[in-house]
Amino acid sequence: MSKKEGLFEQRMQRHHDELRWLYMELYNNGDMFAELCDRLKEYDRVRNPKLKRLDEQREARPGWFKDRNMLGMMLYIDNFAGTINGVKSKLDYLQSCQVNTIHLMPFLDSPEGRSDGGYAVADFRKVRPDLGTMEDLADLAEECHDRNMNLCMDFVMNHTSEDHEWAVKARQGDGEYMSRYFFYDNYDIPAQYEATVPQVFPTTAPGNFTYLPEIGHHVMTTFYPYQWDLNYRNPRVFNEMMYNFLYLANQGMDIIRIDAVPYIWKELGTQCRNLPQVHTIVRMMRMIGEIVCPGVVLLGEVVMEPEKVAPYFGTVEKPECHMLYNVTTMATTWNSVATRDIRLLRQQMDIVNRLPKEYTFLNYLRCHDDIGWGLDYGTLRSWGMEEVSHKRFLNAFFTGREEGSVSRGELYNDDPRLGDARFCGTTASMCGIESAQQEKDAQKLEAAIRYDLMLHAYMLTQSGIPMLYSGDEVAQLNDYTYRENPAKAVDSRYVHRGTFRWEAAEKASDVSTVPGKVFRGLRELETIRKEQNVFDADADTWTIDVQDPSVLVIGRYKDGCQMIGIFNFHDLDRNITLNEEGTYRNMLTGETQELPRISLPGHDFLWLLKKF
Ligand code: GLC
Repeated sequence: MSKKEGLFEQRMQRHHDELRWLYMELYNNGDMFAELCDRLKEYDRVRNPKLKRLDEQREARPGWFKDRNMLGMMLYIDNFAGTINGVKSKLDYLQSCQVNTIHLMPFLDSPEGRSDGGYAVADFRKVRPDLGTMEDLADLAEECHDRNMNLCMDFVMNHTSEDHEWAVKARQGDGEYMSRYFFYDNYDIPAQYEATVPQVFPTTAPGNFTYLPEIGHHVMTTFYPYQWDLNYRNPRVFNEMMYNFLYLANQGMDIIRIDAVPYIWKELGTQCRNLPQVHTIVRMMRMIGEIVCPGVVLLGEVVMEPEKVAPYFGTVEKPECHMLYNVTTMATTWNSVATRDIRLLRQQMDIVNRLPKEYTFLNYLRCHDDIGWGLDYGTLRSWGMEEVSHKRFLNAFFTGREEGSVSRGELYNDDPRLGDARFCGTTASMCGIESAQQEKDAQKLEAAIRYDLMLHAYMLTQSGIPMLYSGDEVAQLNDYTYRENPAKAVDSRYVHRGTFRWEAAEKASDVSTVPGKVFRGLRELETIRKEQNVFDADADTWTIDVQDPSVLVIGRYKDGCQMIGIFNFHDLDRNITLNEEGTYRNMLTGETQELPRISLPGHDFLWLLKKF
């Protein structure tokens, strides 16, 4: 047995018993398990030797993805550079943004006009033809690795497009394929599901089932009617989807984002979210990854409250996802923007700070999706704020309808029954850059840029991996042209999915321009983050109460270095007194700063450092 074969056997041996145990518990099917094991071996055999070397390096340093120099950016291939090869030709630009991790938004084959931004996959092994080919993808991955960059892609495992080969056969009445989805010849069971399962898109795609008149069946469609939920009770579905996962991992992916993971197991009488079997499946996936492609990191998309999110890390002995989105912190940040009150955010950060340091979060301000107002309403209620009226206030604020608001953007899935619309817009538009430019108000513009940078500075102060949203580095505004495109008009998320404005990027080095100011500001922050060990993922982190509900103060400590980050969420100047005394250094200007008293202009921030 050669050394490399030996590695696979060792990895398999390490996980075999647990994997078999979980598989049998779920499927009780030894033949299918044997098939799975055979195929794992096959995917190991064909895995590129370069990727195998990377696997070994990463196995030797399993925390590789937590390095403080990690900086991600998520982008749409077509919006950013037309094609995969286009992205390859723009890697210099991404590196000039200090980005070393690229999340390519969904690019697999997906029917135009029925794609949900690519999240309705028709073929897991084919790139959308206008974007390129699988070879282009593998090529891009290789180029990224040569530059010490990482590539992330989505694995949409909850559903397929109705154009997927399985769905096409199911629609023709082929039982084998119908059993891969949830088909019902009458509405009895769907009605029972509807009684307990909430709706994801209550306005744009109401209900959780779609009727298919041509075969007289209802099919489960949690998201859009053209996204058919896969039935993971069927071991064939699990096995085939794992093969797809490994196939994609073998193209050279470093991070696989498992899309909508809480939804993958359905059970009558439940909400069909976060069921125990989901954890069994994610745990199996983690082991399968560790057996075949241990260099690959699983990023779970769990858009839920903190108690639901943390279990997706699994336990220290039985880990599930390597990384999860810090979604409640993100939503609570924007809540602080609207309320100018950081108390809820501080409470949320304290929750995250108390979690084990092994947990790695992906931090972000904006992403391709809407902002759902998933806040801690229990606490808000105790402060006299009711959920529905508070959501109304937030949406009015961010659409610029609230007194004093400079934000611009659009509502998303405004459900009149519940009054709980979500919100869409870019960071720059939400910070007031769009409205200030419209009003040609230089002072407002300066304030908006300051706010934009302050929010990024705060985001970069958090432990974990910061992920920028493409365009934010040059203050890209909302793009309203989607309204003229019939395939997009119903989905206001496209307002922040505009074509990347290269003319703005060209101004990035001109600091007299808005893009230039934001670009330079971000660069400075990112450079400091990379250089200073207080930003290490395992640094101690805490918040500091300065008796001012508008000022968030974060402390970080590592190896004799203490940092204090101070963020003013108010538009007016604030004077605060910290508990700390002594001389600190302003990390951006190098000037000294005497504590405890600090005066901070509206929407400004400070990064202070002291060495002991
Ligand atoms: C995830 C994606 C979202 C998509 C949904 C359905 O939540 O982020 O854009 O609509 O999954 O696949």
